[in-house]
Amino acid sequence: MEKVYTVKEVREQVKAWRREGLTVGLVPTMGYLHEGHASLIKKAVEQNDKVVVSVFLNPTQFGPTEDLEAYPRDFEADCKLCESIGAAMVFHPEPSEMYAPDFCTWVDMDVLSKTLCGKSRPIHFRGVCTVVSKLFNIVTPDRAYFGQKDAQQLAIIRRMVRDLNMDIEIVGDGLAKSSRNTYLNEEERKAALILSKAVFLGKKMVEDGETSAAAVKEAMIKKIESEPMAKIDYVEAVDGLSMQPVEEIKAPVLVAMAVYIGKTRLIDNFIVE
Ligand code: PAF
Repeated sequence: MEKVYTVKEVREQVKAWRREGLTVGLVPTMGYLHEGHASLIKKAVEQNDKVVVSVFLNPTQFGPTEDLEAYPRDFEADCKLCESIGAAMVFHPEPSEMYAPDFCTWVDMDVLSKTLCGKSRPIHFRGVCTVVSKLFNIVTPDRAYFGQKDAQQLAIIRRMVRDLNMDIEIVGDGLAKSSRNTYLNEEERKAALILSKAVFLGKKMVEDGETSAAAVKEAMIKKIESEPMAKIDYVEAVDGLSMQPVEEIKAPVLVAMAVYIGKTRLIDNFIVE
């Protein structure tokens, strides 16, 4: 497996693969890889001849008071994991390789990026769309892989690809885990279970026939509030495509939440299909 640090090297290698008629999959990550990433990389290895994993802690998707500096990193462990699964290349650029000092071109999105996480993280999705577009332009993959845990991000990337006519298949994959779990101490880790309990409760209500978004949200909020260490950012039910709030739970709907456990902001969700 190759470790590559410049855009030029990626382009040369991908061109060589293309000349051999090989297909290319891209798994964009910010590093500190976990089972969720491993599952995406595995899927990519199954579906493509060559897989590039990008490990880039993208500064433009973090707000000024967010956790860019504290975000966990372990590049050597990331490389070992990628190699063991069969990735062909890890692309690990410096921020200066991705953003010139006078960088001023952004890919932004209306509507979908204004709800849920976009409300409390106003520049986040502009940074995500911009860096993902750049990675798509650099790697030119046939397929790109994203976790379903970040359901809003996945919906936004699918829409960006459709709206901007990008010739890339977007593949979503289900394993729920977050690199931010590493911030939690033992007590917080226990408290964080309240998120999956609330998801379980909401899901069960919908399966049992509840169609009122307000009723489902209220029950989930009550559940989360039963945990003293939890502070709700949002609990919301939105249309699965437009990410706009709905009153009735009628598929496709995404029921999503962001909850602070101590200083750590965690997200979770379930999808009604
Ligand atoms: O989901 C992530 O890790 C990031 O938002 C992504 C897609 C790699 C862009 O930096």
